[in-house]
Amino acid sequence: MEIKRSIEIKSEEDTKAFGLELAERLEPGQVVALIGDLGTGKTTLTKYIAQGLGITSHISSPTFTIVKEYHEGRLPLYHFDVYRIADPEEFFNIGAEEYLNGDGVCIIEWADLVMEEIPDDSLFVFIEYGQKEGERIYRCTF
Ligand SMILES: Nc1ncnc2c1ncn2[C@@H]1O[C@H](COP(=O)(O)OP(=O)(O)OP(=O)(O)O)[C@@H](O)[C@H]1O
Ligand SMILES: [Mg+2]
Repeated sequence: MEIKRSIEIKSEEDTKAFGLELAERLEPGQVVALIGDLGTGKTTLTKYIAQGLGITSHISSPTFTIVKEYHEGRLPLYHFDVYRIADPEEFFNIGAEEYLNGDGVCIIEWADLVMEEIPDDSLFVFIEYGQKEGERIYRCTF
């Protein structure tokens, strides 16, 4: 896996701009893997990607259901949060394979916890806290 660029996010506005732009170029079947500590903004970024896809529903973390589906946008969105998954097999058991091989877009929070199930050609975003409040660093494989 190769990091192609490193983006300095200065505020949530930058996260929004990044999410909206990414949404425009997403194609059917693509997987966005979000990897970063608690509170770095994985759900927030997902919210803006969803907005960019034209989804108007409220996006909240699917922590207990593992996956939530949104069908009103340009492409179907399958939003995963695998934080509470005990092992990668559980991810497989909820039917992840079908979502990953489908024609929608999958966004997976905490993708590092199920790394062996994540397709190699996914769009990986490694998120780290920056120095100041609101700052983040995005390391992207695309
Ligand atoms: N640049 C930024 N990008 C995203 N969120 C930001 C940014 N700056 C501040 N925030 C705030 O940080 C918080 C991020 O929370 P969020 O739930 O999105 O994180 P998360 O990574 O999904 O957490 P979890 O690991 O619990 O799933 C939000 O309150 C958001 O408003
Ligand atoms: Mg989250």
